[in-house]
Amino acid sequence: MAAVTADQTTQGQARGTAQATAGGPDGPAGADVAQQAAFDAAVAADERIEPRDWMPDAYRASLVRQMAQHAHSEIIGMQPEANWISRAPSLRRKAILMAKVQDEAGHGLYLYSAAETLGTSREEMLDKLHAGRQRYSSIFNYPTLTWADVGAIGWLVDGAAITNQVPLCRCSYGPYARAMVRICKEESFHQRQGYELLLTLGRGTPGQRAMAQDAVNRWWWPSLMMFGPPDDASAHSAQSMTWKIKRHSNDELRQRFVDICVPQAEALGLTLPDPDLRWNEERGHHDFGAIDWTEFQEVLKGNGPCNEQRLTQRRRAHEEGAWVRDAAASYALKHPAPTRHAHAPAHITEAPHTEMHQAEMHTPPNAEATA
Ligand SMILES: [Fe+2]
Ligand SMILES: [Fe+2]
Repeated sequence: MAAVTADQTTQGQARGTAQATAGGPDGPAGADVAQQAAFDAAVAADERIEPRDWMPDAYRASLVRQMAQHAHSEIIGMQPEANWISRAPSLRRKAILMAKVQDEAGHGLYLYSAAETLGTSREEMLDKLHAGRQRYSSIFNYPTLTWADVGAIGWLVDGAAITNQVPLCRCSYGPYARAMVRICKEESFHQRQGYELLLTLGRGTPGQRAMAQDAVNRWWWPSLMMFGPPDDASAHSAQSMTWKIKRHSNDELRQRFVDICVPQAEALGLTLPDPDLRWNEERGHHDFGAIDWTEFQEVLKGNGPCNEQRLTQRRRAHEEGAWVRDAAASYALKHPAPTRHAHAPAHITEAPHTEMHQAEMHTPPNAEATA
């Protein structure tokens, strides 16, 4: 936590300097031109932008939007799977699912912390989520109807998340890129547990096989929508790629995901619900059917099967957890964290995110994350 505060203070000073020399809202002037040039050169050279570095306001805003949405998705994404913890068919499955859902809470915490280095606060981001002013991934507005959905989510939803997130480990913004390294390792475990769950069901009774197939049928298309709108309709894509926040387009990542899933589905003995899915020798990729973007837009607008339920539960968890936050704040006041890095040499402060993660891991459980 201390590292975040230090970053914010320094960054606030840096921004103050930038604003003092700014030429107005229409574009950079004077010293800002030099700062912009330094920023552009760093991005072009694949160097990392760090919290203390000057960055364009639009770059900062874009990162806050993306990282907040990512953090919210981790936290809201706990709900559909937590729905099955008490009904897991064995102690082993229950332990695995609990570990997985806890991982997602951890991902949310890393990402809120990483977003805080940009000058926003977790409180502000959560307020915006609860007011419907910041989004979370629309995939979590679908219900988990059977136990097989836990497998389909792990295999497809976490699988799509990995495909999206591995390139983010090379994102131009340092704290985001570093948070993604650890998150991706855990997502691999999530994907494999889902695959193994479906494999077990696929080798089970006809009823279990049918349940697995039904879950895959329901989750396949929403998983493809997770990559976002087609490239020509994606509002933020081109700019994000110029800034090297994103490294591949939505359609490129979606194609990669389809190509990965087809042989895995065959190995599982399951089919993917797309009659147009076939190998295209010429392209060296699988062709696939048209995605129903009307459904995607409807879910985005709040008309998915579970939008209201997810947000209501999130708000309630936040309100009911107020006493835990108060208690944690009082405890922190009485037992301040050791300031062992307060006067550390500059080279040590290059790795604040690592300390930040350890601090988060040792913080008493936060009720906000137990939605
Ligand atoms: Fe996650
Ligand atoms: Fe996950």
